[in-house]
Amino acid sequence: MSEGFKPVKLYEENLRLKITKGSMDGRKLRELRKNALKDMKFWEEQANSLTWFKGWNNILEWNPPFARWFVDGLINASYNILDKHMETNVKNKIAILWEGENEERRKLTYNDLYIQVNKFANGLKKLGIGKGDRITIYLPMIPELPIAMLASARLGAIHSIIFSGFSAQSIADRINNSQSKVVITADGGYRRGKVIKLKEIVDDAIRSCDSIKNVITFNRTNIDTPINSIDKKWDDIVNNADDYCEPENVESNHPLFILYTSGTTGKPKGVVHGTGGYLTYAYSTTKWIFDIKPNDVYWCTADIGWVTGHTYIVYGPMLHGATTIMYEGAPDYPKVDRFWSIIEKYKVSILYTTPTALRMFMRFGNQYPESHDLSSLRLLGTVGEPINPKVWQWYYKIIGNERCPIVDTWWQTETGAAMISGVPGIELVPMKPGSATFPMPGIDAVIFDEEGKEVPPNTKGYLAIRKPWPGMLLTLWNDDEKYRQVYWSRFPNMYYPGDYALIDDDGYLWLLGRADDVLKVAGHRIGTAELESALVSHESVAEAAVGSKPHDIKGESIIAFLVLREGYTSNEELKNVIVDHMRNVVGPIATPEEIYFVNKLPKTRSGKIMRRLLRAVVNESPIGDITTMEDSTAIDEVKKAYDDLKKTIR
Ligand code: WTA
Repeated sequence: MSEGFKPVKLYEENLRLKITKGSMDGRKLRELRKNALKDMKFWEEQANSLTWFKGWNNILEWNPPFARWFVDGLINASYNILDKHMETNVKNKIAILWEGENEERRKLTYNDLYIQVNKFANGLKKLGIGKGDRITIYLPMIPELPIAMLASARLGAIHSIIFSGFSAQSIADRINNSQSKVVITADGGYRRGKVIKLKEIVDDAIRSCDSIKNVITFNRTNIDTPINSIDKKWDDIVNNADDYCEPENVESNHPLFILYTSGTTGKPKGVVHGTGGYLTYAYSTTKWIFDIKPNDVYWCTADIGWVTGHTYIVYGPMLHGATTIMYEGAPDYPKVDRFWSIIEKYKVSILYTTPTALRMFMRFGNQYPESHDLSSLRLLGTVGEPINPKVWQWYYKIIGNERCPIVDTWWQTETGAAMISGVPGIELVPMKPGSATFPMPGIDAVIFDEEGKEVPPNTKGYLAIRKPWPGMLLTLWNDDEKYRQVYWSRFPNMYYPGDYALIDDDGYLWLLGRADDVLKVAGHRIGTAELESALVSHESVAEAAVGSKPHDIKGESIIAFLVLREGYTSNEELKNVIVDHMRNVVGPIATPEEIYFVNKLPKTRSGKIMRRLLRAVVNESPIGDITTMEDSTAIDEVKKAYDDLKKTIR
């Protein structure tokens, strides 16, 4: 059961909040939802908000588990985000208000963005990039990141963005899987005043990547970087390029991007999103959830390297011609009030952030938000992990001044955009702190027990989605079989996200954390299997089991149990070496919080690690049934390692 979850009754008695006077009882919304589930026309209407070069012949072709939306329709993502706005007064509206960690500022209008994207697309074309080619992007949070994405989309190429906190090995794995032709990076990126040498990391990665023909580097930090024969400078590419590039008309189901994400197997999976369906869903959910108005200043604090940034910094808001904030650096740098000063400075009206960030700010104290004018805010959002009701209350009272509705949006890389959330853009319903409220119109969510039977209200079970929706992934890159097996086999022909949930008496959905071996560390999604394979790639490690432990700020933190190879001694020094190894192989987000050395791991007779037991030991909860354990002394080992470590800490 997730940390934040308490029996629903408590909320009904004490905490239930009505947001606006005059807010209706959700009748209109229920009606809309009913119709959306009944009738495909609903999605057709949504798709009609976009500009298509040619209409579709079929709204949906559903050959489970493969859904193809708006079949034979021709569209281009960059056309819908840029060219379309060139005909209205959005043309000269600010698209991106960018602030560097070092307080540098840039403003780009939609027209500026249009010119830059066209030029960069022409530059890529000259390098031989065209429809269907994969482009890897490894950039910090600077405007060149959306420019590169939209240039890729303009050509009908497929972008694969890698979060700039990932290491060389993670980049190489992703490039080799996607067979990208080009990597776009920067010399460096700022993080807490330091420069992270991104280009050097890329050079290191591509030593094992034959598919890469060119590396394009943007000069962000003016550090010296080695120049290789395949290297191109961003500025040279743009300066010599024409400022119009014909947008490629792609079929609606042509992949727009691949985004790698952790699952329950060793290597990350390449989640593939199409164009027409994804854009339709990104457009509609942005409208419903954020209720974007022409004068809004919208800030999603995610990194574009994750799906939240793809959909709710770039595609969703920009389809609406919104003004978005892009901030380059750490949220608490140089001072812990950085977020609040940005909100005050740019008069942000919509803030979309994570429970991890909120927990951190809450800990710093109210004096920081209270010393800034946050009165421009009108709507708040949260994403990525369950939000503790206490943190929700703080967000509502201290940041929103009890004026701003909070949208708690549940979704995944695979779902393309939000699936369960409040929808102020349609209508407000009473909120319950910690509940993501209801499924989006057209989303058919259900909670099942182990056997796939629908559970009664207030019963924890597995979330499943019964019907396809336009934002859903097309497949996993080059792996239809795994796609079928991971998402569509747990409950036949239904989408299985891997989350626990329940529905309360009022029909509100409560997301209760992952039901599989996927962790959410500071909101970042990391599979334990991926961490284990990185751990055993170190020469000293024979076997590894990774679990997690509740963490006050990060939600959960990584713990690792290791069996060492012959000849290695367990000591602090080796721990540090292994931590460094994890940072190098996966990236800083994979840093274990605690490492336990043991002689054996608790396993079932068929050789599966019994993670449940590891979790129980570190959470000091009952071990439960161990009759399936192969060697019951293993659990004593684990307990001893845990007790020893506890002694050294206390
Ligand atoms: C979790 C992030 C509770 C969930 C957009 C999901 C949430 C995983 C919420 C996907 C929320 C996301 N409440 N849990 N509002 N939003 N999650 O792919 O476990 O990085 O399966 O996508 O995050 O993580 P991903």
